[in-house]
Amino acid sequence: MGETRTFNVGIVGTGSIFKAYANGLAGMPHLPVVRVADLDQERARAAAEQYSIPNWGTTDELLADESIDIVVNITPPAAHAAVTDAALRAGKHVYVEKPVAATAEAARRNIATADEVGRVLGGAPDTFLGSAGQTARAAIDKGLIGRPFAATSFVRSSRVQVWHPDPAFFFQPGGGPVLDWGPYHVAALVNLLGPVAEVAGASVIAEPELPVTSPEAKVSSVPVNVPTHATSLLRFASGALATTMYSFDVWDTELPHMEIYGTEGTLQVPDPNVFDAPVKVKRRGDEEWTEVTPAIARVSPVDQPFRGAGVADLASHVASGTPHRASAGFAYHVLEVLEAMEGASLEAGAVKIASAPERPAPAAG
Ligand SMILES: NC(=O)c1ccc[n+]([C@@H]2O[C@H](COP(=O)([O-])OP(=O)(O)OC[C@H]3O[C@@H](n4cnc5c(N)ncnc54)[C@H](O)[C@@H]3O)[C@@H](O)[C@H]2O)c1
Repeated sequence: MGETRTFNVGIVGTGSIFKAYANGLAGMPHLPVVRVADLDQERARAAAEQYSIPNWGTTDELLADESIDIVVNITPPAAHAAVTDAALRAGKHVYVEKPVAATAEAARRNIATADEVGRVLGGAPDTFLGSAGQTARAAIDKGLIGRPFAATSFVRSSRVQVWHPDPAFFFQPGGGPVLDWGPYHVAALVNLLGPVAEVAGASVIAEPELPVTSPEAKVSSVPVNVPTHATSLLRFASGALATTMYSFDVWDTELPHMEIYGTEGTLQVPDPNVFDAPVKVKRRGDEEWTEVTPAIARVSPVDQPFRGAGVADLASHVASGTPHRASAGFAYHVLEVLEAMEGASLEAGAVKIASAPERPAPAAG
């Protein structure tokens, strides 16, 4: 990207992911964070103090701060659309965490507002801009695995109820494995295979109430109001198919995060929620998996969250017209696919099976 024009950044939301943004943006001197805001004023004050950010206060104060060029909206999903709308109307460019809005309909309104006020709206995820996502992309574009015809993509439980102090929003509309983790996977798949044309699938809720056991838990249990296990079939415009399973209910699995199958080999893509981890390939005739040479240098350790690449992508686009990769349009396509994955029912396209035998009697004992 290499853009050095300075854009002052204001961050709305100083919760769990805030420190990853504060740390990530601290490594980008052209994107100084000059103010933070939160509904919880004490949290905003503490965040400003910890990261030596000069100003803190309410969202209204942040939006009235004329020195701020870019608002980074890292509130919970249900608050995204309203904060984004207010920030755009205050004349700011906006980068919003995923999903771009809690619903595709709300995201469409935000995109229309950005057009109306002439500001740029970008959205997470931006992980596909990292070394792993770009290495996999270069490998596919160079034909390393021939013509990609299929993929698998598995979201394993992130067990938020054992580490997040207040995980309720993960189990409300806008959360769940599809909308919370799915953005990383579908963004990675669209980056690698192009847009999705069709979705079929089905989803269930395995447990309607989940105990919260995180050490700093503010609640003892949370109700589950979104599907927590969804399985889908995606057909890309290219004709490639992807089989997906996005679950908060599977406690663990040894399924790979993501694999892309081509006519000449298989590409193993690391967890799309991390920026930098090895991409591996096994081509026709290979005995072993080998690591694909990184297409761009690694910028963050594998085991650390890193945020800010999408904000830098937006800033570079505004400053010098470089392609806006983590754009709201891209994030919207990802959200439209995810909503279809969550809501899709097999009923419409499924072939009914007439026979329904008992399970075979157990042979053990
Ligand atoms: N926690 C993670 O590991 C993680 C990782 C990647 C992305 N995200 C995304 O980041 C966003 C925030 O997640 P989080 O885990 O930090 O949530 P969080 O609940 O820990 O923090 C959100 C903060 O926003 C504040 N807030 C809520 N509504 C507001 C409003 N209208 N105006 C101003 N402040 C408001 C809350 O008081 C809270 O401090 C979500 O979109 C989530 O999907 C989170």
